This record gives sequence, C-alpha cells and structure tokens, in this order.
Amino acid sequence: MIQLKLELNHLFSSIPKDQLLTYNQQIIGAYRKIYNKTGAGSEFLGWVDLPTATSESFIEQISGHAAALRAKSEIFVVIGIGGSYLGTRAIVDALSHHFALLKEKPAAPHIIFAGQNISEEYLADLLEILDQKDYSLAVISKSGTTIEPAVAFRVLKAHIEKKYGITEARTRIVAITDKSKGALKQLADSEGYVSYVVPDDVGGRYSVLSAVGLLPIAVAGYDIRALVEGARKMEALSRSVNNIHGNPMAMYAAARHALYATGKTTEIMVNYEPRLFFFTEWWKQLFGESEGKENKGIFPAGVGFTTDLHSMGQYIQEGMRTIFETVISVGTPKKEIRIPQADSDLDQLNYISGKRLSEVNLMAEYGTTLAHMDGGVPTIRISIPEISEDTIGQLIYFFEMACALSAYMLGVNPFNQPGVEAYKKNMFALLGKEGFEEQTTLLTNRLKGKM
Ligand code: PA5
Repeated sequence: MIQLKLELNHLFSSIPKDQLLTYNQQIIGAYRKIYNKTGAGSEFLGWVDLPTATSESFIEQISGHAAALRAKSEIFVVIGIGGSYLGTRAIVDALSHHFALLKEKPAAPHIIFAGQNISEEYLADLLEILDQKDYSLAVISKSGTTIEPAVAFRVLKAHIEKKYGITEARTRIVAITDKSKGALKQLADSEGYVSYVVPDDVGGRYSVLSAVGLLPIAVAGYDIRALVEGARKMEALSRSVNNIHGNPMAMYAAARHALYATGKTTEIMVNYEPRLFFFTEWWKQLFGESEGKENKGIFPAGVGFTTDLHSMGQYIQEGMRTIFETVISVGTPKKEIRIPQADSDLDQLNYISGKRLSEVNLMAEYGTTLAHMDGGVPTIRISIPEISEDTIGQLIYFFEMACALSAYMLGVNPFNQPGVEAYKKNMFALLGKEGFEEQTTLLTNRLKGKM
C-alpha cells in the first residue's frame, strides 16, 4: 500500500487547484519522454524500472555478501561522493538509532563515510579509529576517476593492506563501479575484489537503489528487500497513472512549476526529525544537479525544524519572498515520552504536561506552516506514517520520478551535470596535472591578482 501522502491544502491559497491541473499536458509530455525514451539524456533512464528489475537472486546475493562482511567488521567504510554517497547516507541515517555510535553492543557495523571531502584532518582522524577497529570497505565510483574517492581509497587501501595483509585485505574490499571501463574497474579486476556494477543507464544521483546503496545499507543491517518493495509500489503507481490526476509525483512537479512561475525560486525541504537531515542532502543533490542549468532551476535548500526556526526562521518568515517549503512530516513514533508534571511549574510547562513530545512537535509544524503561509511562504506537505525501509523506498522513487518530470517541464536535461566539471579542471591545473600546463599559469596569475 502507498503510505506517502502529498497534501497541497496550504498551497491552494496561493495557487488554485484548477491552475495546477493546467499542467496536465506538460506532465503527459514529460512522461512520454521518460517512458518512450525520447527526451534529452534518455540513455540514463535505467532507474525508471530499477525497483521491479531488481531480482530476488540479486537481493539474496547482496544480503549474503553483506552478512559475511558484517561478521568480520566493526566498521564498514563507504568511500564515495555525490550520487555514490548521499543516497546511502540518507537511508542509513534515516533508519539508524540517533546515538548508534555510542551503543555498547551494536547489532551491525557502524557505517562511516570517506572520500566525500578532501579534508586531511577528517581522513587522519578516521585512520586513528581504523587502527583500533576491525573494518571492511566499499569503494563506490561509477566513473572510477573521481578525485575525492580515489584519493581516499588510495590511502585506505594502503592502510587495510598493512593491517590485514594483502590476501585478507582483498576479501574486505568491495568495488562498485562501471561494468567495463574506468580505473577502479581495472584495479578491482587486477586485485580480485568482489565487484558490483553501477548500471550504464543509471546516473549517480539516481543510483541508490542499485548495488551503490543496497550493499552498504544491507551491511548496516537494514531490510533492502523492503526498501526495494517500497520503491516498487511508487514505480507501479507512476506507471498506472502517468498524468496529473491521482499521481502525487506529477502533482508535486506541477506545484513546483506553478510556484516557480510566480517567482518562488527557492524550495526549502523541511523536516522535524533529525534523522532526515541527510535525506534532505540527497534530495538537494537530486534536484540541484538535475534542474540547475541553462540559468534555470529552483534552488533546493534544507532546514531541520524546530532547531532551525531559531536560526533561519526569521529569514523564512520575513526575508525575500522567493521561498516555498516542502515539509516531510512523519507520523507518531513508537517510542513514547510524555512531558512530566512539575510541582513548581517555574518553566510554566504544566499546561502541556502529560502530552507526548510528538504532539508538541506536530503543533510546532502546524503553527509554523500557518505562520509561514501568513508570511507569504506556501507549503507543500508530504507525510509518511513512520520512517521505515518501506516508506523511505516510496519517498526515494517519488522524488526521483518527480525530479525527472520537473526537469523535463523546465526544458533541461535531468541527467547530465556539465557544470560540475568547471572546478575539477581548475583544480587539476592548479595541482599541475599533465595536459593542463597552459591553464596552470593562467590560474596561478589570477590567484595572485595579476589579471
Ligand atoms: O549524480 C552524479 O552523477 C554525480 O553526483 C556523481 O555521482 C558524483 O560526481 C560521483 O561520481 P562517481 O560515482 O563517478 O565517482
């Protein structure tokens, strides 16, 4: 059953429902591009039926391998960046105990990330921990040439080989990369690592439901079958209703467009559960990298409430009126805490004593939504009853499809990222890479302010 609900009630004061329905033809056109593979970037549509194409035997294979890695690892390091990092982090964080790192007897290895930055201190601190703990690692890079994970892997490969010896190290390293090309594939073959394929037709930010996410999520002890099943439900809904009527993905894409047309150029994803922090980061990459091109696109931002109401709340309420919000609202949690009665009532909280914290959190959400609406910030609400593999699977597919629809409606290729190359070329030139000599001089002079 689909448990995700899209609620647009708080939008209809700024965008009437009838107006949203006028986007139906555009939605149908975007769907045609996706299902008939006729749009820009159509060679990257493998994610569309990835959930149903994921076989039981593949899930079994990944689960079996994950169990073997779990048995000998206190820590599992996931090396990757961008689409080879954020989806896994989003799901593992969403499903994990908030203080998993402090639990004395964790049920599964801690998942630690590397290669998502080039900070020397970060990696040095990680090595200190890895000196003391048993670990395995996955190196994930579709291209196999991205500098951040490649640098981290070079360092960790040396560390793990020194710690365990080359033969044992090889059983502790998993490579997830292109099926035939790239430096990582070559290395994995020559070293004999178990390797998994990032399908050719699935781009990085759409890859979390492939081995890229499934292996580390299984190592972390989560039910990847239920995750994929959740995504399958949304895939089925999308296929059965590929127009705006009764399809929340299409409605969400249309709502964003209607808002963009009225000058709302920033979308803030809001959560009231800290476990969803990295889900927002994943969503930011998905929409930012897919839509932000050709001088177009809604800027995706994120906040965690109520925490950020005390830092960003002022701006959202009264700053530039270019913002709308998308709230991910989660139902009542299973763990229960009620606010105690206090004899003194110095903090004047007795009026809410006996109430659950989740009720207070929900009233904070409602109160904020109404205040923001009054301040000219329309709100889209997406609710799920709980955070589970099933609902996260639904959310992942929901946003993947909505993003592809939305980018096609905007008239851009959802699946490329040409702008990401600019910094890389400069960095290579400044580091003195062969072939960049001319740029090296130019950039060095610019940094010195000479031109
Ligand atoms: O979505 C994308 O394609 C990017 O974010 C990539 O995932 C990211 O740059 C990492 O690339 P790779 O997996 O090739 O190392």
